[in-house]
Amino acid sequence: MITTFYLPTKIIFGPGSLARLGAEAAKLGRKAILVSGKSSLRKTGILDSVVNDLKKNGVEALVYDRIEPNPRAATVDQGARLAREAGIDLVIGIGGGSAMDAAKGIVVASSGTRPVWDYIENDIEVGGVVPKLILVPTVAASGSEANCGAVITNWQTHEKCVLNSPHVYPAVSIVDPELTLTLPAKPTAQGGVDIFCHLVEPYITAEEPAPLTDAILEATMRLVVEYLPRILAKPDDICARSQLSWASTIACSPFVSLGGGDGAMTLHGIEHPLSGCYDRAHGDGLAALLPAWMRYTRLVRKERFGTLGRNIFNQPDGITATGQWLQKTGMNIRLSELGIEPERIAEIADNAVKTAPWVKKHPNILDAENIAKIYRDSY
Ligand code: NZQ
Ligand code: ZN
Repeated sequence: MITTFYLPTKIIFGPGSLARLGAEAAKLGRKAILVSGKSSLRKTGILDSVVNDLKKNGVEALVYDRIEPNPRAATVDQGARLAREAGIDLVIGIGGGSAMDAAKGIVVASSGTRPVWDYIENDIEVGGVVPKLILVPTVAASGSEANCGAVITNWQTHEKCVLNSPHVYPAVSIVDPELTLTLPAKPTAQGGVDIFCHLVEPYITAEEPAPLTDAILEATMRLVVEYLPRILAKPDDICARSQLSWASTIACSPFVSLGGGDGAMTLHGIEHPLSGCYDRAHGDGLAALLPAWMRYTRLVRKERFGTLGRNIFNQPDGITATGQWLQKTGMNIRLSELGIEPERIAEIADNAVKTAPWVKKHPNILDAENIAKIYRDSY
């Protein structure tokens, strides 16, 4: 098998590394749009200090703090229009995966005049002048700071899809775990489950696991399993926050397929419609579906769940151990608790097949009928 490792991103990591942002931005542009969520950065005072730091370094910042969780195409398009009209040459996304993915969407949509959904649905060529991108995660979850994907929701059609483009690799990502200290327990736990799923899904589904890929996936899963409960017990534990931030950056990056390993994130494919149809938090959707997805996959991956149990949890069975860990982190959630209507399960399963074609890579058939079975088994 031939694999390619490509990540043209300079990653500056460590507590206090946010102080590097202004100088790094000055190397890439003169006029930036600062893309963030609606309230947390203002509340923590980070937004003002970032604007001042940019100004000190000769970079003008246009603040666009309108991004909702599960970022919508319409919000991205509005930001892209603003960026185009202001003649920006740099996009800075600072926030969780929602703000970072919206920033990626603005990079693409501001280079032309087409809506961002055209680049997702019709895979049109990105032309024009493409601004540079800097990402600054404030949540350990998505790992968007180290890949070229962005998950955007079309709220008209209730489709949540992945924008993939080489233009949205960040030029620079600054991963400062201190920024995650203000994250409350719930989004911290949702993020931890998201990171765990980025790792366990390819680990279980791989047809041809590779020793190096397994080693990286296993080591990173052990970090998440150990440090998430520590953070929930002591939220200001900067050492534990730093380990979880590293795990987050690695888990959804090309690092985890170094050396081969051809797994696919098929659980993600069946979770996205829950956010697309009901605007549910990504981590909650994953936590609700993970046990049933594992039980469904055990039929064809028995020995793999054994190694998962032994190598990650020091227990004989990975499915039981994962269930206990979800309980321990307060993430043992049922689909019924997320307000998913049982009578819509077949429709949501069809949505998954349409919006996540990669579910076909699952080791046993994952068609609409079997996806519906997993939803029902999670209810
Ligand atoms: O909206 P604001 O006011 O910023 O508040 C946010 C939001 O309400 C808050 N928050 C963020 N940083 C904070 C903070 N509150 C206090 N202190 C801080 N330091 O937390 C809430 C959740 O933020 P959000 O960005 O929605 O969470 P997360 O980082 O989990 O991102 C979820 C999004 O990432 C996508 C998901 O689909 C979802 O849309 N993903 C992106 C991926 C990628 N690009 O590689 C892969 C992932 O699998 C995931 O799908
Ligand atoms: Zn995810």
